[in-house]
Amino acid sequence: MTEIGNELDGKVALITGAARAKGQGAAEGRLFAARGATVILTDVLDDEGEKTAGQIEGAEYLHLDVSAEDEWDAVVADVVARHGRLDVLVNNAGIARLGRLVNATMEDWNLTMAINQTGVFLGMRAGARAMIEADNGGAIVNISSVAGMEGLFGSTAYGASKWAVRGMTKTAAKELGRNGIRVNSIHPGFIDTDMLAQGNFDDDQMAKMAKSAPVGRIGTPEDIANMALYLSTESAGFITGQEFVVDGGWHG
Ligand SMILES: NC(=O)c1ccc[n+]([C@@H]2O[C@H](COP(=O)([O-])OP(=O)(O)OC[C@H]3O[C@@H](n4cnc5c(N)ncnc54)[C@H](O)[C@@H]3O)[C@@H](O)[C@H]2O)c1
Repeated sequence: MTEIGNELDGKVALITGAARAKGQGAAEGRLFAARGATVILTDVLDDEGEKTAGQIEGAEYLHLDVSAEDEWDAVVADVVARHGRLDVLVNNAGIARLGRLVNATMEDWNLTMAINQTGVFLGMRAGARAMIEADNGGAIVNISSVAGMEGLFGSTAYGASKWAVRGMTKTAAKELGRNGIRVNSIHPGFIDTDMLAQGNFDDDQMAKMAKSAPVGRIGTPEDIANMALYLSTESAGFITGQEFVVDGGWHG
């Protein structure tokens, strides 16, 4: 039985969109490293990423634009060449360009799809290829949203991309199960990160958001990291193709 605290000993984990110290990806990086993993944080914000990785023992930073097919292939090849394997992939990178359907632009739509949907497709494909080749099994965790569980005002493109993540997760789980690779999605509610801060909500709106969840607070990046850790370990060995809502009880 795996010792608690060392669940990811000897494992190599790659996390996308993990540069921002206050973000969910960095929280996953800190937790995974504390549980024994070699952690590769990736993002397009290279200065922030280097700094964040520098503060985590057992972590390194690599540039990876998740919408770029060639970058995925190069980064995964580099990780496998230097670390010998890839066991865990967290497809966390995402953008939220919110606004009403009637005001939506093609630029917003295309960029949202390129990063949130194509980025997860490319990541799962590159990660699964490496995992199959190494024949050690693996875990892929895709970060969707409550906007991938129901319709949310102002999120036509964002919601479409996050529903796609949920759907792709289920298909990949069916295809990869026989290779010992599990694929699940997490659906965060309101989480206190720079993405939420970009909404420029005032104190009143933040208080309303907190109250809208039965537990009465906004989520932390660590709330999501805890679920990502669970799904990445053998404790979740019989779980694949499922969606996990982590939102303080707001959805449902
Ligand atoms: N914060 C919330 O309330 C919330 C709610 C539900 C879902 N989510 C999802 O959680 C995930 C993490 O977001 P967060 O809250 O930590 O915000 P965040 O902004 O800190 O993290 C998103 C990261 O993605 C990176 N990114 C953007 N474009 C990229 C690209 N092309 N390639 C690689 N990286 C790129 C950003 O630089 C950033 O570091 C996202 O997928 C987001 O959609 C967030």
